[in-house]
Amino acid sequence: MNNCRISNKKLIKIFDFNKQPLGNGFLQKKDFNKEYFFEMKVGFCNTSKMFQLNYQPNPNKMFHKNYAFFSSTSKLMKMHFKKFYEELIKHKALKKQNPFIIEIGSNDGIMLENFSKNKFKHLGVEPSLNVAKIARSKSINTMVDFFNNKSAKKIKEKYGKADLIYAANVICHIPNIKNLFFNIHKILDKNGIFVFEDPYLGDVIKKTSYDQIYDEHVFLFSLHSVKYLSSIFNLKLIDAKHQETHGGSMRYYIAHANSYKPKSIINRILSKERTIGINNSKNFKNFQININRSKKDLVKLLKKLKKQGKTIAGYAATSKSTTILNYCKIGTDLIDYISDTTLDKQNKFTPGAHIPVKSYEYFKKNIPDYAVLFAWNHSKEIFKKEKLFKKNGGKWIIFVPNVKII
Ligand code: SAH
Ligand code: TMP
Repeated sequence: MNNCRISNKKLIKIFDFNKQPLGNGFLQKKDFNKEYFFEMKVGFCNTSKMFQLNYQPNPNKMFHKNYAFFSSTSKLMKMHFKKFYEELIKHKALKKQNPFIIEIGSNDGIMLENFSKNKFKHLGVEPSLNVAKIARSKSINTMVDFFNNKSAKKIKEKYGKADLIYAANVICHIPNIKNLFFNIHKILDKNGIFVFEDPYLGDVIKKTSYDQIYDEHVFLFSLHSVKYLSSIFNLKLIDAKHQETHGGSMRYYIAHANSYKPKSIINRILSKERTIGINNSKNFKNFQININRSKKDLVKLLKKLKKQGKTIAGYAATSKSTTILNYCKIGTDLIDYISDTTLDKQNKFTPGAHIPVKSYEYFKKNIPDYAVLFAWNHSKEIFKKEKLFKKNGGKWIIFVPNVKII
């Protein structure tokens, strides 16, 4: 696809990552020769202001009964959602009798469990059966489906309109976003709010966190693009709050055009976005230079350490790391293994680069001289947990915002 998914205008080329596998496509040795790859390119549309992948693999390839990402693996994210729940229940949209809450991409129920425990009428819409089953086991009402025309219609018929539609780290996954906004407009109560949070383009540019670009993230949003998109569907961006999660995210609050008054923060962030230049394709030159520099620095450092006979492992086999490993062509020649706490990833190999994924216990028994922190967005939680690694002489390699040893 070379045209914008919103305006249909031709996308301006921003970056070409060449051949990439699926970010969460952890696989066994026997499947190496049938591994799927696609040409990963990103472009920008100067009309819709949307930063997007030119091509995204079919969602059925990514979200299925063996989806590898379990939200509740992070304690910090659990706390993040609990705090957010507490904020949301105070919102005017929920100040009515028996409000109805929908979450799109509810995964293992990390957010909805707060609503479910407190007896709110709720529904999770989650296509990946394995994670949906975990949510159901926690008494979370879950519909195993993609949020689309068919499921939206079913929801409206069975439950009525929603007072809160919530989504975290999933709207950026959904290529037919016009259709999504169309359905939101249809099933959102006249005083309801649609709130979603996703990695923020402003942070990606500022930190050169180009690993946020992978198959699942078809869009990287900004206030400019979300405002434009909302306006097409007679919806309005009424508030926005920056979040530290996932390396810098933005939470967008959207409502029917004539319901709530937009907060002044919107204009302040829009103006900041114009200053950093994420509203025009011509301003992405530095981003391109920074990606290339980051790649060069990381490969150079790993090669140098390897030459010195050091052992290097990866810490956390994140989906984001797939872009780094494949774009930088880092394989077992430079990284011996990557440890990850997710059972489903362990004893498999990373997509494309084929680095073995080992358990956390394995890491504890095979402490490397250096550990590349692929879950840099969870660094606070990890550094706290791994004080001993550092104390015993272990060193971290980080690459966001710059490649360095700490
Ligand atoms: N909200 C959770 C999960 C994010 S991962 C969190 O922030 O931790 C994205 C989730 O969205 C996955 O569980 C995936 O299966 C689901 N998903 C992907 N496309 C979807 C769609 N079209 N409708 C609903 N859920 C979707
Ligand atoms: P994310 O960056 O997409 O949230 O993915 C986090 C991955 O990192 C997930 O596979 C679990 C793994 N992980 C660890 O292995 N150890 C940890 O301490 C944390 C926080 C995450």
